[in-house]
Amino acid sequence: MTGREQWASNAGFILATLGCAVGLGNIWRFSYLAGQNGGAAFLLLYLFWVVLICLPLLIAEFAIGRSTQREPTMAFEKLGGRHAWWLAGVPSVLGAFVILAYYPVIAGWALRFFLDYLGGGSEARAGVNPEARFGAFIASWSPLLWQAAIMSIGVAIVSGGIGRGIELANRVLMPLLALLLIGLAGYGLTLPGAGAGLAFVFLPDWSALSDPSVWLAALGQAFFSLSIATGALITYGSYLPRERALPGPALAVALGDTAFAIVAGVMIFPAVFSFGVDPAAGPTLAFVTMPKVFEQMPGGAVAGAAFFGLLVVAAVTSAISLLEVVVAFLVDRFGIGRARAALLASLAGFVVGIPAALGEGPLAWLRISGRSMLDVMDFLASNLILPLNAMLIALFVGWVWRATDAREASDLGPAMARWWRLSLRYLSPLLIGAVLLRSLGWL
Ligand code: PHE
Repeated sequence: MTGREQWASNAGFILATLGCAVGLGNIWRFSYLAGQNGGAAFLLLYLFWVVLICLPLLIAEFAIGRSTQREPTMAFEKLGGRHAWWLAGVPSVLGAFVILAYYPVIAGWALRFFLDYLGGGSEARAGVNPEARFGAFIASWSPLLWQAAIMSIGVAIVSGGIGRGIELANRVLMPLLALLLIGLAGYGLTLPGAGAGLAFVFLPDWSALSDPSVWLAALGQAFFSLSIATGALITYGSYLPRERALPGPALAVALGDTAFAIVAGVMIFPAVFSFGVDPAAGPTLAFVTMPKVFEQMPGGAVAGAAFFGLLVVAAVTSAISLLEVVVAFLVDRFGIGRARAALLASLAGFVVGIPAALGEGPLAWLRISGRSMLDVMDFLASNLILPLNAMLIALFVGWVWRATDAREASDLGPAMARWWRLSLRYLSPLLIGAVLLRSLGWL
């Protein structure tokens, strides 16, 4: 197809995909899950899933996107050879849309905390304790405002297009992200008692492996963190010229994303242990536990601003990829202009995200079996839509896409390509299926 936008360079594509993968998942989600699920043991399981399941899927999604040069529903339709196959792409767009609804809510919290610390941490100085501070904030209407702010940043970037919007933003933001992370991790290592935090991140407590829910949490985290099965990799791959090779970027993204998660652990846990706060605090780890650390730290307001700035930058480069999936769907399938599509998609995401933004405040009555709507959406996406869709993609590439075409599209050497396809044909669906059934309590 002529006229389709493309990445200006291979480096730009890798940076953008890395920006898509590295996000709240690496810092907020990874650290609280590792904190709850045995630290280093969780990290090992995560690595196990990345190599065994995620890398083959990463290449598969890139290959689907690059060989069709289309958004997910049209990509499946094209490869499947029948109109009805467009349905196979729907879970990808849906997955992105659900995450697009609640992700900016959490990113918005980070933006608000960032600005507060940037202004010198007036709230901390006023002596309000971190629990009360965070509690009062999410109980109010104001999360809506911050959610809208993040969405607006996303619309501004995505409206600029692939090269001058998304690629450019990542070229500026990703180096900044790396600098902030390394700076903070370096600072964390100088804190007294940092050793206990490092031991938590790197010395596995093997007993955690006997708990099946830890395996499951690690799989869901691997999907979420690498943006697998959310249409983002297919969509970003669709802006790749056909002659660009896939395995290199796939490996770079998997390694880079994992490295970010590990360094984030090195940033967070030494501080957590050094100031004696609980590493297993759960989802509030970043928003309550870390502020407690900053309060006790010399220069805490600066560290706080750097930490939440990091979170915001990481979240924005991911949020734009989620928005881009829905935008590409609207543009490719319905011929809507990019800027209008961005506005439409973000408005829809914003509205669906309102119950998540107000779920601890004005809409606190709206719960599903006791869970807040933010929890429900995250659960629905990470534990249901993503694994099911990952299975679907593996089965599609393993069984429906013609073997010779699929192997060729993967750019792998003959032996690796055989392995790759076998893993998608049998290993991935079986393992994901088992984990999924287990999580529903059926196995
Ligand atoms: N991978 C991102 C993160 O770790 C989240 C994300 C998921 C982004 C799916 C795009 C698609 O935060």
